[in-house]
Amino acid sequence: MANVAVIGSQWGDEGKGKIVDWLSSRADVVVRFQGGHNAGHTLVIDGTEYKLHLLPSGIVRGGKLSIIGNGVVIDPWALLQEIETVRKQGLEITPENLMIAENATLILPVHGAMDRALEAARNKGDKIGTTGRGIGPAYEDKAARRGIRVCDLADEDLLKQKIDNLLMHHNALLAGLGADLFETEQVYDSLMQVSGSVLQYAGPVWKRLDEARLNGEKVLFEGAQGVMLDVDHGTYPFVTSSNTVAAQAATGSGVGPRSVGYVLGITKAYTTRVGSGPFPTEQQNDIGEFLGQKGHEFGTTTGRKRRCGWFDAVMVRQAVKTSGIDGIALTKLDVLDGLDEIKICIGYKLDGVQVDYLPSSQRAQAEAVPVYETVEGWKDSTFGARSWADLPASAVKYVRHIEELIGAPVALLSTSPERDDTILMKDPFLE
Ligand code: IMP
Repeated sequence: MANVAVIGSQWGDEGKGKIVDWLSSRADVVVRFQGGHNAGHTLVIDGTEYKLHLLPSGIVRGGKLSIIGNGVVIDPWALLQEIETVRKQGLEITPENLMIAENATLILPVHGAMDRALEAARNKGDKIGTTGRGIGPAYEDKAARRGIRVCDLADEDLLKQKIDNLLMHHNALLAGLGADLFETEQVYDSLMQVSGSVLQYAGPVWKRLDEARLNGEKVLFEGAQGVMLDVDHGTYPFVTSSNTVAAQAATGSGVGPRSVGYVLGITKAYTTRVGSGPFPTEQQNDIGEFLGQKGHEFGTTTGRKRRCGWFDAVMVRQAVKTSGIDGIALTKLDVLDGLDEIKICIGYKLDGVQVDYLPSSQRAQAEAVPVYETVEGWKDSTFGARSWADLPASAVKYVRHIEELIGAPVALLSTSPERDDTILMKDPFLE
């Protein structure tokens, strides 16, 4: 099975961009299967910088089909804006190279308004730190069966009824929150303005992916966020509203589980998180500052400063299990260069008892005290290394130890943002 699913194994921002770009250059079809324009990464191709949020990475390369699957929530205005931006940069986007699932749910302006109103109304300790893009409320509507889907744009009468039904719910809540209300006519008119532009890409994605399977085309499933932001397996309620685990690649695009293929977990050599919620190994001190500055830890989508801390092997091991990760791509090892010693979390203390996993309860997650192992750092640079022989012995030891602790091998080691600065141990497409 020559397909690959790429997911983040921590709280997102593991440096997927470069790895996904490398893999997408070798794939025939690239599919986004969850999330929305809350995600974001930057791809640099021949000196041009592309900032992608919703479009699959395959879009920057000719001869690939990019697919937005049914598991994604699509803001049509954000999508068209992104298409416009990359077109201005010289990319061609046509129904030949972009397909959108006709059964994907739309994000409407009311969802963004609701997202922000709810977040503002939450007490300080309960704020999730969402991106404010309407992701959560759109997924809520999908599950509540009042969502508006891409295919609804083609049925004008039904669309109006659906907007009415959706606004009945949201306006009642918005009124309670003291926020501005929405009118059916206005929402309908603005959707009509974009419907043609969106519908030209719409189709049965599951069918096209079945053809891909029969034709032996290589499919790359491109995840967004990370396993610890998964709505079931993450640090709930401080999570995003979709499943980010690898199994979602199947559900969110309409293929069987066996079609997902090799699961590659992108893993940063330390840990970061944006937004609020538990983060046992967070370092609110010089170490955290050092990692944040050296690792340029600011969000691509919101520009927010990321929280930084030591590598949490317990959490990544959990991600390896819940996503069936076959191998990891370890990123940003060079950020650790120059440290005298490095800590790795190998367990948590809860009420004085050591546990080897992160329990689900909100209280336990907030109170988990990390148990660290301290390993020797290295003084030489790992930046730009292209073979194991170029790495300092302590860095090799660190990587090998991580493999052992998380129970998954390193398939790729990325040593700089440059595409060629990668040590390849195993080609995921050849598994
Ligand atoms: P939402 O996805 O906007 O609802 O935000 C929910 C949580 O997920 C917040 O903590 C966000 O900061 C986080 N989040 C959403 N998208 C990303 C991402 O692409 N990288 C990292 N964190 C994200």
